[in-house]
Amino acid sequence: HAADAQRTDLMTITRFVLNEQSKHPEARGDLTILLNHIVLGCKFVCSSVSKAGLAKLIGLAGETNVQGEEQKKLDVLSNQVFVKALTSSGRTCILVSEEDEEAIFVESSKRGRYIVVFDPLDGSSNIDCGVSIGTLAFTCTQIFGIYVAKDKQNPSLEDVLRPGNKMVAAGYCMYGSSCTLVLSTGNGVNGFTLDPSLGEFILTHSNIKIPQKGKIYSVNEGNAQNWDEQTTKYVEKCKFPQDGSSPKSLRYIGSMVADVHRTLLYGHGGMFMYPADKKSPNGKLRVLYEVFPMSYLVEQAGGQAFTGKQRALDLVPNKIHERSPVFLGSYDDVEEIKQLYGVKN
Ligand code: AHG
Ligand code: MN
Ligand code: MN
Ligand code: MN
Repeated sequence: HAADAQRTDLMTITRFVLNEQSKHPEARGDLTILLNHIVLGCKFVCSSVSKAGLAKLIGLAGETNVQGEEQKKLDVLSNQVFVKALTSSGRTCILVSEEDEEAIFVESSKRGRYIVVFDPLDGSSNIDCGVSIGTLAFTCTQIFGIYVAKDKQNPSLEDVLRPGNKMVAAGYCMYGSSCTLVLSTGNGVNGFTLDPSLGEFILTHSNIKIPQKGKIYSVNEGNAQNWDEQTTKYVEKCKFPQDGSSPKSLRYIGSMVADVHRTLLYGHGGMFMYPADKKSPNGKLRVLYEVFPMSYLVEQAGGQAFTGKQRALDLVPNKIHERSPVFLGSYDDVEEIKQLYGVKN
């Protein structure tokens, strides 16, 4: 069939990344190999998530992670999947995962130049309800960010504790009604959807851009009594605009990646925030593997990411599991919150 034959001309993620790398004459193909291993991990987790209800993967693993959160079985499984996929790539030297208290230093025989920081499963509190009622209304996600170590023979934590503007790639994979991988290697943002019959991620959303002004705000409003004045004022403006514009819609899933994915993909644009509050003065989200990769993608899509004090990607973390407040999304919306905090460009 002619239409089927044409399918072999699809833009797979491997082909896409190879093309991107060929624009860099100095590239040695290491990033392509590394990304291939990440993609393999994503395929594995995607299939585990869809089978979770059948494979006794629902529920708690019985341990608490360094964040003080109870680990779900799928948190633990996805962490193991990515640690193995990343070490076996032979292209990594340090791994930082939400689920591991300490950074992992890859043994020297398998060592490569790249540092990968990742959240093996994001929004894992959504797993059980989604699976048990058999709907596709749940989404869990994996976020990753990649840095290059200065000296691969002597990698140190100093290589990891660098500002987000030094990252060379970032992405996430969303395990929803379909499995979607969104990636940037510093040249715009592209989205790939897993074709389960081929086992390949195919380019489905090229050159994703966030509208300059958004129609949605996304925040856990249950924390409102502890917010600072600026956040309170911003949300008030979303609901009761004084300039004649329409009020914004509220959407909040409780999974950063799903919440940001919607903002990126639906073309409405908007603001996602996890602000500081009296109980958590640094907010909740972790700098290295949540705030940085998402901020990188949002900037690459034409939006902005702000911490309440500065550009999120300029933050220099002191600890691998450090947290920071974050406001990210459509350019003009973030500009508004920056003004409320008295920060100029
Ligand atoms: P994780 O599942 O990786 O621990 O991340 C959970 C994070 C993030 O995905 C989400 O935006 C946020 O927690 C939701 O927090 P609240 O339940 O406090 O709103
Ligand atoms: Mn967690
Ligand atoms: Mn997370
Ligand atoms: Mn997680």
